[in-house]
Amino acid sequence: MPDWNKCILVTQDVVKKFGGLVAVNKVSIKVPERGIVLIIGPNGSGKSTLVNVISGVYKADGGRIFFRGVDITNKPPHVIYRLGLVRTFQIPQPLRKLTVLENVMLGDAVHPGENVVKALIERAWIKRESELVERAFQILKFLRLDHLWDVESWKLSGGQLKLLEIGRALMANAKMIIMDEPIAGVNPTLAHEIFQRIQEIRDKLGVTFLIIEHRLDIALKYVDYVYAMARGRVISEGPPEKVVNDPQVIEAYLGG
Ligand SMILES: Nc1ncnc2c1ncn2[C@@H]1O[C@H](COP(=O)(O)OP(=O)(O)OP(=O)(O)O)[C@@H](O)[C@H]1O
Ligand SMILES: [Mg+2]
Repeated sequence: MPDWNKCILVTQDVVKKFGGLVAVNKVSIKVPERGIVLIIGPNGSGKSTLVNVISGVYKADGGRIFFRGVDITNKPPHVIYRLGLVRTFQIPQPLRKLTVLENVMLGDAVHPGENVVKALIERAWIKRESELVERAFQILKFLRLDHLWDVESWKLSGGQLKLLEIGRALMANAKMIIMDEPIAGVNPTLAHEIFQRIQEIRDKLGVTFLIIEHRLDIALKYVDYVYAMARGRVISEGPPEKVVNDPQVIEAYLGG
């Protein structure tokens, strides 16, 4: 269960502009430790931009971001990653030739935004220490992907790839995982399974989640708290049933 006495992530009046467009306009959110927090909002409301600023992909034009009490505002993505705040990324094409196990192991070595080859050479990771293999295997077991350990990743379904992205994040010792539309294009059965795994990872490993998702019919069943954004601002927040019934939120969706 989320611990509201300990907020693992706090943003204060975060601003991000693209030229004249204020994509994120003074957004303040709190994410409790062990929470599963959802961000919703119509297309273009600034959800992805916000998480890109939090994870260091974009520089903020204003405001502050604290993770585990550390000011991470405008820190480089790999520094934020090493602190345990991991945003999952689609596994890039070249890495899909690697096996499922190898891809999980890479989570320990490389930030997704880094030049993989360069990073691997610098860290001389190729040794494949048995300890890392063991850990990666445990993670795959947890995700029920262990039977696929030797399969090349391109052979996985979209939903299995999402689980693999989570596996890489766990290998990176993530304390908090940010996911942008984890169940987009995933069939309903596997979509529920992904959220069940997310809950299990929270319950058993104590990992916190911040998730952007449009498929509310599925996502709302699994989350503790919701922020709704529109036009770069937070327009509503609270438990799922409160936020989705908030007239302001309904209007934001209908108004497009
Ligand atoms: N790199 C960029 N350069 C210029 N404008 C951008 C950039 N990224 C996003 N925007 C603009 O910022 C606004 C917010 O976009 P963002 O992608 O954050 O929305 P979103 O809530 O994630 O939408 P969706 O639900 O469609 O993914 C939009 O008007 C978008 O066109
Ligand atoms: Mg988006």
